[in-house]
Amino acid sequence: MNTQSPGLFIAFEGGDGAGKSTQAARLAGSLELLGLTVLRTREPGGTPIGEKLRSLVLDHGHGHIDAHTEALMFAASRAAHASQVIRPALERGEVVLTDRYIDSSVAYQGAGRDLGTDAVRSINEWATSGLHPDLTVLLDVHPAEGRSRRTAGETAEDRLESEADEFHARIRQAFLDLAAARPDSYLVLEARLPVDELAATILDRVEQLLASAGRRLG
Ligand code: TYD
Repeated sequence: MNTQSPGLFIAFEGGDGAGKSTQAARLAGSLELLGLTVLRTREPGGTPIGEKLRSLVLDHGHGHIDAHTEALMFAASRAAHASQVIRPALERGEVVLTDRYIDSSVAYQGAGRDLGTDAVRSINEWATSGLHPDLTVLLDVHPAEGRSRRTAGETAEDRLESEADEFHARIRQAFLDLAAARPDSYLVLEARLPVDELAATILDRVEQLLASAGRRLG
């Protein structure tokens, strides 16, 4: 848990096409209206080196990338992100909203690529020195629905998105398992609910967290 710093750390997780960035933007807007300082960021990426790693690991055209290499690239990007961006913002008392974090690696590389969820979790614990979100919002999306939401957009699918629905089904189950193991730290919502309804439910939960003792956000 992020118990060491005054800020609040929230991760958005879920399959591709779940609508994480829409909800992160909505929450950021609502929290800013409450006068809070919000930092929105994403993975892979969030730092100059992380953005380079993002294009290396996601773009087609770098030849075959084996699963261990892939997992380490995501973890390397995350190490930079946690130490250079997330921790400093939390120490300044800000609200940090990240589009994806450790759970994405546990689900995509641990379950999707079959590297094992414990192994992937442990390299990421080391990479982030154990920095965990206060809350993870999991937008649960059925693989076929996620694909149709993605392909409705203009951008082509990246290396991970273009994997088979069966790969995405394993990822979905892994996310649900993570949430079931620590229900107090997760808010699990069906991604197909109306955008406004999702936004209101997420804000409600975050307001409860903000009201909890010891939060001195700026
Ligand atoms: P994302 O940025 O959510 O996709 P986009 O912005 O293109 O909609 O994530 C990119 C892809 O990277 C996505 O398919 C999930 C994958 N991914 C992993 O496999 N492991 C990770 O640790 C992370 C952060 C992402």
